[in-house]
Amino acid sequence: MQPEFHEATAADYPSYAVLFPQLAAGDPLPSLAHWLEDFAPTTFLAAVEGEVVGYAYYQLLSGVGYVRNVVVAPSQQRKGYGRALMAELARRFRTGGANAWCLNVKPENAAAIGLYRAVGMSRAYESVILRLDWDAVARLPPVPGIAAREVRPDEDELVRSAFELVPGQLAEVRRHANRRVLGLFEAASPCGVAALNLFVGHGVMGSFPFRVVRPELARNLLDAMRAYATPEHLSAQVVIDDDPPLAGLLLGAGAESRMRIEHFRGQLPGH
Ligand SMILES: CC(C)(COP(=O)(O)OP(=O)(O)OC[C@H]1O[C@@H](n2cnc3c(N)ncnc32)[C@H](O)[C@@H]1OP(=O)(O)O)[C@@H](O)C(=O)NCCC(=O)NCCS
Repeated sequence: MQPEFHEATAADYPSYAVLFPQLAAGDPLPSLAHWLEDFAPTTFLAAVEGEVVGYAYYQLLSGVGYVRNVVVAPSQQRKGYGRALMAELARRFRTGGANAWCLNVKPENAAAIGLYRAVGMSRAYESVILRLDWDAVARLPPVPGIAAREVRPDEDELVRSAFELVPGQLAEVRRHANRRVLGLFEAASPCGVAALNLFVGHGVMGSFPFRVVRPELARNLLDAMRAYATPEHLSAQVVIDDDPPLAGLLLGAGAESRMRIEHFRGQLPGH
């Protein structure tokens, strides 16, 4: 049976709160207020005979749809609802002018990877999520003379192309009151970018993405993150994309490896 889709409202929060932990992403459940502000506006739920069976949360970027969460209730899996959620996402992305889509998934999540391959996506690269307390940051040598500052919206394209970011990703970050885009510049050239998430859910300050052109610039970018830290931010958690030398440097300074993730992408079906 095909599910019916509806936009998320506050009344759906209990369903979301039950389904969200299925992601096992290590993130705390957002509060109702946080969910309504940051996630619900681009979340829809799938229901069958009035019962919620799953949900999807997405971001429509510039020409690219970013699938952020796809969850089907454990008792409702293998009935085609995951595929139906992906089809609805593809429809929304196409309507919004996108021709490609992407997402992140844990390499051991065979069900999700099976679903994404079934809709034509393929693996692009691997990332690792690392957590460093501020003492570990202090063990990294800084590079003198290079400090970070907030990236201006008119610099987004320069930074995006330097790091091959997903088009529209930085603009999406800037739409959220608790997020910041920081850049490192050498002369006028971008040499680092961090998209901070200042939300204090589990004591960490997150950055996704976190990119530098040379691993040794990581300290400068982490110092810039730390300038935004409150006493509740006990450590930094950064997503390192496809950059084993940078991950190695941070692990050597005492970073803890939290999770590996794979980036999948593809053309939207019908393109
Ligand atoms: C991933 C998930 C959404 C799939 O939902 P679902 O409703 O069970 O998926 P569907 O029934 O639509 O299956 C579609 C296809 O996905 C693949 N698939 C689904 N479950 C699978 C499994 N356990 N193993 C291998 N492939 C699987 C198959 O190709 C399947 O097609 P088929 O049934 O014709 O063989 C669901 O397992 C889930 O919610 N998991 C927990 C949350 C999660 O990990 N979400 C993804 C985060 S990135």
